[in-house]
Amino acid sequence: MKELFSISYWTKRYNRNGGSGDGSRGPWLEYKANYLNEFIKNNKISNVLDFGSGDLYVAKKLEIDEYTGLDCADSSKYYDEKEPVGPKLLSLHQTRFDTFVPDKQYDLVTCLDVFYHIMDDEGEYLKAMIQTMFDSAREYIIVYSLDSESEQVKKQFETRISHTFNSPWREIFREHDDFELVSTDEGKGLPGNNTYFFVFKRK
Ligand SMILES: C[S@@+](CC[C@H](N)C(=O)[O-])C[C@H]1O[C@@H](n2cnc3c(N)ncnc32)[C@H](O)[C@@H]1O
Repeated sequence: MKELFSISYWTKRYNRNGGSGDGSRGPWLEYKANYLNEFIKNNKISNVLDFGSGDLYVAKKLEIDEYTGLDCADSSKYYDEKEPVGPKLLSLHQTRFDTFVPDKQYDLVTCLDVFYHIMDDEGEYLKAMIQTMFDSAREYIIVYSLDSESEQVKKQFETRISHTFNSPWREIFREHDDFELVSTDEGKGLPGNNTYFFVFKRK
């Protein structure tokens, strides 16, 4: 099995206390947590499976009974069991997403700021991880990402210099019949931002 670029990159980053980045700090952290908490409350969500839990800054703000986080890198150093904040029950698994087998279906599956870290040559991985997300979700999937079908984003990535790319996650979601897009904050959200929430519901 091919080694993922993200494993070495994020492991090194967490080892030097680099954290998950600006997307889970300051106004972005507040925006993400508020959006998710409102959704959790309005839809009576009691458990969540999060693909790419990272440094848990978002997870610790969630008002939910049970949180299970998956990540290819070990970020457990960011979790102190004695900290009395966030979900009542929090568990973490260090795993690839393509081989992960869920123990049950979760009310909500989330994947926040992860898709565009999947590399150009990891298309098969992307497809397999999305299939795992479908298999794990009882009712809802929430993605927070660049819109891979937006012309503006496509243009931006034509001139990219980094390894990461605008992974075609929306196209892959579209190919599946089981979930439909029910809402998005696309075009709204924080000023100057082009990363949005996409809420999918099982049909
Ligand atoms: C930018 S951080 C986002 C963390 C968190 N979701 C948030 O919003 O704060 C991206 C996370 O995705 C994980 N990740 C990236 N590529 C991955 C892959 N191919 N398989 C599993 N996890 C991956 C990284 O280890 C990292 O923790």
